[in-house]
Amino acid sequence: MKRGFSLLLLLICSILANAQPNSSNGVRLSKSTINDVVAAMNLEEKANLVVGTGLRFEGSGPVIGEADGKVAGAAGNTMNFNRFGIPGTVLADGPAGVRIDPTRKNDTKTYYATAWPVGTLLASSWDTTLVRNVGVAFGNEIKEYGVDVILAPGMNILRDPLNGRNFEYYSEDPLVTGWIGTAMVKGIQSNGVGSSVKHFAANNQETKRNSIDAVVSERALREIYLKGFELVVKNAQPWTIMSSYNKINGIFTSENKDLLTSILRDEWGFKGIVMTDWYGGRDAVAQMIVGNDLIEPGGKSKSQNIIDGVKNGTLDEKLLDRNVTRILEFILKTPSYSKYNYTDKPDLKAHAQVARNAAAESMVLLKNNGNALPLKMGTKVALFGVGSYQTVIGGTGSGQVNVAYSVNIAEGLNDAGLVIQPELLKQYANYIKEDKLAHPKKGSLTLGTPRMIPEYFPSNETIESAVNSCDVAVFTLSRNSGEGADRKVTDDFNLTENEQLIIKAIAQSFHQKGKKLIIILNIGGVIETVSWHDQADAVLLAWQPGIEAGNSVADVLSGLVNPSGKIAVTFPVKYTDGFSSKNFPGLPVENPTQVKYEEGVYVGYRYFSSFGVKPVYPFGFGLSYTQFAYSNLKLSSDKFNKKITATVVVKNTGKVPGKEVVQLYLSAPVKSIDKPKLELKGFAKTGLLKPGESQTLTFNIDVRSLASFNTEVSSWVADAGNYTVKIGASVDDIKLTKSFTLENDLEVERVHKALVPQIKIDELTKK
Ligand code: BGC
Repeated sequence: MKRGFSLLLLLICSILANAQPNSSNGVRLSKSTINDVVAAMNLEEKANLVVGTGLRFEGSGPVIGEADGKVAGAAGNTMNFNRFGIPGTVLADGPAGVRIDPTRKNDTKTYYATAWPVGTLLASSWDTTLVRNVGVAFGNEIKEYGVDVILAPGMNILRDPLNGRNFEYYSEDPLVTGWIGTAMVKGIQSNGVGSSVKHFAANNQETKRNSIDAVVSERALREIYLKGFELVVKNAQPWTIMSSYNKINGIFTSENKDLLTSILRDEWGFKGIVMTDWYGGRDAVAQMIVGNDLIEPGGKSKSQNIIDGVKNGTLDEKLLDRNVTRILEFILKTPSYSKYNYTDKPDLKAHAQVARNAAAESMVLLKNNGNALPLKMGTKVALFGVGSYQTVIGGTGSGQVNVAYSVNIAEGLNDAGLVIQPELLKQYANYIKEDKLAHPKKGSLTLGTPRMIPEYFPSNETIESAVNSCDVAVFTLSRNSGEGADRKVTDDFNLTENEQLIIKAIAQSFHQKGKKLIIILNIGGVIETVSWHDQADAVLLAWQPGIEAGNSVADVLSGLVNPSGKIAVTFPVKYTDGFSSKNFPGLPVENPTQVKYEEGVYVGYRYFSSFGVKPVYPFGFGLSYTQFAYSNLKLSSDKFNKKITATVVVKNTGKVPGKEVVQLYLSAPVKSIDKPKLELKGFAKTGLLKPGESQTLTFNIDVRSLASFNTEVSSWVADAGNYTVKIGASVDDIKLTKSFTLENDLEVERVHKALVPQIKIDELTKK
């Protein structure tokens, strides 16, 4: 009887299976059935899985940010295959917040998102706990809007001040980039959604970004441009990595086996999927072969390339299966797979508070003569600068976020109990209104450097009456830029003539009456400061602070938050002081095809400090409303054996509570390899120390911290000799030093010979 029943069941199953030629034989995607699913998929299905479903085209081009119906405005997706129970997944931009359409057709609900403080600002916190907390809130918003992967964080190195996307990135230093990125990815992914760390790698400019060949030495790649990615992969295992648009040493990164397989997977142990940047690279078959698992945004022609490749033998189907397997492993982790019932109602109010605090805690006080800041409640403020009323909260392009509101600096100061002079407020409001009427905005997405409202020049009488009726002047200087274009030196890195004149006029008038001028820098990348900063009594670097911009600025100006950020990028005297300026954005000048990184490892402070070029504000610099004393530097040993622990005591010697960022630099012995004068090997931040309170900070120096990359032998090597630990408040303000020795040369790690330049690079050395 039992046997008869089983036979009947078998018969029914086989009839059902035969009735559907496309049947999966009942195999549904689960952890244990991945191989069965791959075996049951036909070639077309596999080719469709490794390729997104394309962008919607309208008019002259793609509407950036249209995936399928699920999350309108998301940048891309992967295809669904119902017969295997494989859901589509949703990928959305970007580093500063979830970029989706704020409203949808036939839907009364809204989908506004939080604009977080931009990357350069978050990195200025040097606070991995703070960044992780932002990541946790960010990840929640990603999940509650039905997104599986956020196309963030951006982890390219700030090689040159003019890169239009610098605001999306963290630092000129790979260690800061790596640890801040790790904190962000861990925070985001703690929600069960994924991060796509981008743009891997050496994507340091926007000029000709889709074709430029970055010619970089193996050493500079290993020590500078790959290091941050290495740290995030090893310490946070992002679900995905986005390969970049550019070539490295002649080969597109998305078609580069050295980069995507030998280094990323074999050396670093990356377990996730690699996706292209949108329309990145040329050859879908090459991308599949080297392990660029997913092509975005994809579309039919890309799938066809892959099908053709398998059919004509240029693509081994086993490699395609490998990529399909990885994508299925990724899908299994997603909220879409587990059918997470997202609310479309993240707690935007709570997230705004996280953004506000993070921005305030990360801002950098560059100057504060005569305790110009903080301002007392009730201070009468003459508020100048278009940026005070039209504050830039973040950059353009895929790093832009659709917000329900944003707080400008005027509103923020007002809410904090500072009194804004009404006449100036009225004049600026009218001026901005008229300018907007004359230059209406087209579309919601801006790329590159947007048109900025030219600075307003109040009349002498207006300035005079402001001097007479106010206690202090505040002037905000704003900049904006983003994806698709680099910045210019004239009228962008450098101030416009008008801006110079206005600052001068305000400074003179206020100083004549013994009143102070505070300048707020509302910028996404480094600008020139030396020609005007003498005229300011205080300078606050607010960067682009996100949705609560004005409140965050007010928290610092009012003293509610004692600034504790420090710059993670050097501010040079003039643009041409940085060595990269000699090779940016490449040659030939009219139409660059190649950019040679002739500065080698001498990027940012590594150049300025090693070659004695004095910056205005050095890497790691930032003031506080209080002061700190450093003492008692101790090393666990004066001979290196596996690791050394350094401890240092930091004391708040001033009058108000504050936090201090402490940096550990190392000067290594120079034998066969030329080395920077000193390099950052660790950083830590104190808690909020009360006046008189001390804290001991601990740093671990492992063998990797001692090593440089020796190209001859493709190895990380630590030279025997004397190493000096330098504890600093910035790279140019070393407070304490102590030395230890390494007795014998050490080969720390031998790696693949990879990413070898095909042309000679005349690299800078100290010798
Ligand atoms: C950008 C990426 C972004 C993607 C999707 C590209 O143009 O370079 O950073 O994630 O578009 O919008």
